[in-house]
Amino acid sequence: MIVCLCNGVSESRVQAAIHEGASTRQQVTKSCHAGGDCGACHGSIRELLAEARVTERRDLSRGARTQQRKDRDSGLLDIHLRGASA
Ligand code: FES
Repeated sequence: MIVCLCNGVSESRVQAAIHEGASTRQQVTKSCHAGGDCGACHGSIRELLAEARVTERRDLSRGARTQQRKDRDSGLLDIHLRGASA
């Protein structure tokens, strides 16, 4: 789907710009030219930035839970091994 009609920039190209590190509308424009003309697409670009932030937070949260589980399981293994050697 085309997000920026003026510059013919697709949603996937904007998402790629965000994935490559663009975190503001201005940075997206600098990266892929979306939003660099009439500005009608600025809202769509901001929505894609917001979606990316939600996804990033969800991934970070999932990663933290996975690490907590690993830490807990590792601790249980330590307790089990200490118990077995005592
Ligand atoms: S539609 Fe993107 S700058 Fe005009």
